[in-house]
Amino acid sequence: MYELHGFRSVEKVEEKRLKREEIILSEAALERQRMFQEKVRAQFAGKRACLETFGCQQNVADGQRLMGMLREMGFCFTENAEEADLVLLNTCAIREHAEQRVYGNLGLLTHSKRKRPDQIIALCGCMAQEARTAARIRESYRHVNLVFGPQALWRFPELLWQVYETGKRVFFVEDEPGSIAEGLPVVRERGVKAWVSIMYGCNNFCSYCIVPYVRGRERSREPAAVLAEVRELVEAGYKDITLLGQNVNSYGNDLDSGYRFPDLLEDIDRIPGAYWIRFMSSHPKDASPRLFDVMAACGHVAKQLHLPFQSGNDRVLEAMNRRYTREKYLELIRYARRVMPDLVLTSDVIIGFPGETEAEALETVSLVEEVGFDALFTFLYSPRPGTKAASLPDPAPKEEKQRWFDRLLEVQNAHSAKIHGSYVGRTVRVLADGESGDEAYPLSARTEGNRLVRLKGGKELLGQFLDVKITGSNTWALYGEPV
Ligand code: 5AD
Ligand code: SF4
Repeated sequence: MYELHGFRSVEKVEEKRLKREEIILSEAALERQRMFQEKVRAQFAGKRACLETFGCQQNVADGQRLMGMLREMGFCFTENAEEADLVLLNTCAIREHAEQRVYGNLGLLTHSKRKRPDQIIALCGCMAQEARTAARIRESYRHVNLVFGPQALWRFPELLWQVYETGKRVFFVEDEPGSIAEGLPVVRERGVKAWVSIMYGCNNFCSYCIVPYVRGRERSREPAAVLAEVRELVEAGYKDITLLGQNVNSYGNDLDSGYRFPDLLEDIDRIPGAYWIRFMSSHPKDASPRLFDVMAACGHVAKQLHLPFQSGNDRVLEAMNRRYTREKYLELIRYARRVMPDLVLTSDVIIGFPGETEAEALETVSLVEEVGFDALFTFLYSPRPGTKAASLPDPAPKEEKQRWFDRLLEVQNAHSAKIHGSYVGRTVRVLADGESGDEAYPLSARTEGNRLVRLKGGKELLGQFLDVKITGSNTWALYGEPV
């Protein structure tokens, strides 16, 4: 077995403070990767790669960089793993279900590998960074040739070359605190939507969450680099641009210049053009009145906020290490709505955190009733080995948690349907961004608040901002026609 690095303990990463000059990769380091790209290209040009991405938008953005590198290495793309020369699974570790799906896929790949012994199978993304995953792949999934975590994304050409050259399995899973690689090639989605990572990693260590262990410490890209990327996207015709980070509200904390996320929003807003800017995710402990003032004042910034609250009970919030209270959250929302009356507000919630009681879960439901979210992403707690919460006693039976969860969904679905119903008869501005597959309403579009609209009209409307009359609705979508 070809082993580049061993594991170090996760605690060491927690202690480490990052120095800017150490984390921004040098031109020489990136040039070295381009050299490997060329070497791979000489062997693999014209071969087919199949990339499957699981999980969040950060992973989707990483997937676009992986595709960029693959294209530079001469690969063309297929969605059929059976006919691919290289299969790359870009994985997610946020909940157990996400991991099970990946193991399911890996199981199926034993068949394609049997048919095509030369096929290279690679695993990257958050799961790949977990020591227990790497150990399991080593032991039980011997058809996997390459495993590398999110911090090593930029090393992909070198690692692939090593697999080819040595014919051995390569595991690059060192728990590095992380770096910033500027200028990696990218294959973007065609259309009007684009994603821009403005920072990487997370320092928050919410007690249920695996992300800080697999994506390293928080590190912000230089403002100039972000601005140049957004400008390029606007000039290329992208109109719905989402800034990404695990917690964009702590953007700039590591820059030592006092430049923060609201400053970045203001600078982006000055880029001329017809486009919307969104961002996700935000952490309530770092969201400030200034952020909401800037959102309200900036014409390009969509009046939409995804602000995960996770629980409506203060004891659970503390056990989650969230560092705000129910009241502090409500205060933030009151302020945000005062300065942006049309704000579309969404959130993430976890039901069934270890030790949560029914009364505590019902406080989450009552917070949802009190705030009236436009949409909610609801999750049943899933223990993540290695996190603090995973070692807490968890006495509530699954069926009981499911009941609390169903109650929450019921409340939210009724509210979503009601809000959507109130749109009927109104005229709203939307961006037509894709085809829906529905004959009666063939286009799909988004409002500024990111609500889904199914639209009548022909393909010539794609990519355009339109005024649309809303004629119908359900829990999940609005229906309309251009006026
Ligand atoms: N179990 C359930 N949900 C989780 N999330 C993060 N970790 C877990 C976990 N262990 C949810 C949080 C987060 C969203 C991306 O996923 O709500 O905001
Ligand atoms: Fe996980 Fe909390 Fe970081 Fe979000 S802020 S990625 S929930 S640790």
